[in-house]
Amino acid sequence: RASQVGQPAAAGSAPAASTEGPSLTVLYGSQTGNAEGVAEMLGEQAKARGIKANVVDMADYKPRQLKNESFVAILASTHGEGDPPDSAIDFHEFLHGRKAPGLKGVQYGVLALGDTSYEHFCQTGKDFDARFAELGATPLTDRVDCDVDYDDAAEAWVESMLAAIEEQAGASQAAATAAAASGPAAKSKYDRRNPFPAPVLENLVLNGRGSNKETRHIELSLEDSGLTYRPGDAVGVYPQNNPRLVASIIENLGLDPEESVGLGETSATLAQALQHYREITVLTRPLMEQWAGHSGDAELQKLVEDHAALTEWMRGRDLLDLIEAWPIAGLGADTLTAMLRKLPPRLYSIASSQAAVEEEVHMTIAAVRYESNGREREGVASTWLSDRLEEDETVPVYIDPNKNFKLPDDDDAPIIMIGPGTGVAPFRAFVQEREERGARGRNWLFFGEQHFHTDFLYQSEWLNWRRQGLIEHISVAFSRDQEEKIYVQNRIRDNATEIWSWLQDGAYIYVCGDADAMAPDVNEALIDVVAHEGNRNRDEATEYLRDLAREKRYQRDVY
Ligand code: 2AM
Repeated sequence: RASQVGQPAAAGSAPAASTEGPSLTVLYGSQTGNAEGVAEMLGEQAKARGIKANVVDMADYKPRQLKNESFVAILASTHGEGDPPDSAIDFHEFLHGRKAPGLKGVQYGVLALGDTSYEHFCQTGKDFDARFAELGATPLTDRVDCDVDYDDAAEAWVESMLAAIEEQAGASQAAATAAAASGPAAKSKYDRRNPFPAPVLENLVLNGRGSNKETRHIELSLEDSGLTYRPGDAVGVYPQNNPRLVASIIENLGLDPEESVGLGETSATLAQALQHYREITVLTRPLMEQWAGHSGDAELQKLVEDHAALTEWMRGRDLLDLIEAWPIAGLGADTLTAMLRKLPPRLYSIASSQAAVEEEVHMTIAAVRYESNGREREGVASTWLSDRLEEDETVPVYIDPNKNFKLPDDDDAPIIMIGPGTGVAPFRAFVQEREERGARGRNWLFFGEQHFHTDFLYQSEWLNWRRQGLIEHISVAFSRDQEEKIYVQNRIRDNATEIWSWLQDGAYIYVCGDADAMAPDVNEALIDVVAHEGNRNRDEATEYLRDLAREKRYQRDVY
C-alpha cells in the first residue's frame, strides 16, 4: 500500500485500529470512461491526503461487502432511458433488490454524470443516492449532478468529499476502537422462544408447468440476527393459519372475531389468536377429551374412550370438523383458546451453506394440499409461505441444530446422499459447503421425483457441480416417466457394486426425506447391497448397517 510508507516490509499483521487512517472505497460505473477518470482522480487525491483509497469498477465489486465499508464514493453515468452503464447493471440491480444489505454504518457521496438533454438526466446517480439513504447510509456531502461539461463540478465534489471524510474520520475511528474493544460477537439473542423476523429475499417455484408438485425455493435474510447454522441443521418457522379457516371457525361458533382473549403472557383478538397462536388444523387427544367434557355428548364421550376409533376419527380432520360434528352451545372465546395448543413451529432442513450464502438461509418446501373428509385441506406453514405471505412480511425463524446429520470432518471422505423430493435440501447445503471448503472427497447424489421435465429440483446446480467435477455421480429415479415405478432404491440396487466399493473407501451414507415409506425401503435396498456385494446373510448385513450408523457413517434426517 502506497500510504503505508515507513512500515517495515515484513509487517504482515494488521496494525492496531488507532494507527489506521480513514479508508475510502471509490466505486465507479463508467461506460465511456468519464466516471472512471474522476474516480481515479479522487483516489489519487485521497492518498495524497493520507486517506487510504481503493478504486474499484462496480463490475468487480462484491456488493455484499458494502455494509462493512465506512466511506464510499459512488461515481456513475446514465444512459438510454435512465439506465446504468453495463458494468454497473449487476451492482445497481443487487442494491435495489431485496438482498441489499442495511448500510447503517456507511457514509457515502455520489457524483452523477449525465446529459441534461435527456429526459432521465443523471438517473443512475439519483437512484444510488436515494437507495443508499433508504438503506440507512449517511451522506457525506450533497450529490452533484454533472452535465456533459463536468470537470469543474466534479473537482468541487472531490474536494468536498475529502474534506468531509477528514472531518468525520476522528469520530468514526473512535467508534471503530470501541467496537474492537467489545470483543467477538455474542451468541444470537434469537431462539425458539424468541424467533428472528426474517425478511424474504426469494420465493420461487422450482417445478415446471404441468407438474403435480409445487415445491418452493425460499431464501430468507438472517442479517443482523447473529443466527448461524451448519449444513444438516434445520430452520424452525412459526407459520400462520389460513384466515379463511379462522373466519369459518369463528362464524360457526357465532363469536366475535374482534373479541379480546387472554393467551398467557399476552392478549389478542380471537381472530389473531387463531391465526397466529393456536393450532386449529390438527386435533389432539387432550382437546377431544375437553371437548367431550364441555359438550356432554354421550356419543363423543364414547368415541374419546375408544383409543383406536378416536385416532381414526381425528385423522384428516381439523377444528372446524369438530365444531360441526359436536357443536357446543355458548362456547366462549377464552374457553376455546384455552383448549387449543400453541401453534407449533415447523422444521425444514436447511438447503444452503453459510460458507456460500453468508447471512441467508435457504429452504426447499413442498406446498401440502390434499382433500379429506369432503374438504380441501392444506399444510399450514407450506401454504402460508407459498400463497399467503405478503410482500413485506417477515418469517419468524430460529435455528434447530442437528448434530446427527453432519458432513464428515474429513474433507477427503466420500459421501453418498440419498434425497428424493424435498429430501434433497440438505444435500444442496452439503455440496455448497464442500465446494467452499475445497473438500476433495467424492460426492454421489441419489435423487427421485415424479417427472424429469418438471420436478428435477435444482437441476442446473447439480449438473454444474458435476461438470466441475465436484459431484462424481448423479443417480436419478423419475418414478412416473415410464410404465413401472422407479424409485431411488431401484437405483441403489442397480449400483450395488460401486456403492460397496465406496463403502470400502470409507464412504458416509446420508438419507433425507419421507420417513414412512422411503427411508425403510432405502434401508432394505442398502441391506441388499451389503448382503450381495459383501457376501453376508441378511442379519449380518443388517448388523453391518447398524455398525455404520454407530460410526456416524449412516445418518438419516427423515420426517
Ligand atoms: P411417486 O409419487 O410416483 O410414488 C418424491 O416424492 C419421489 O419419491 C416421487 O418420485 C415418489 O414417487 C417417490 N416415492 C414414493 N414412494 C416412495 C418410496 N417408498 N421410496 C422411494 N421413493 C418413493
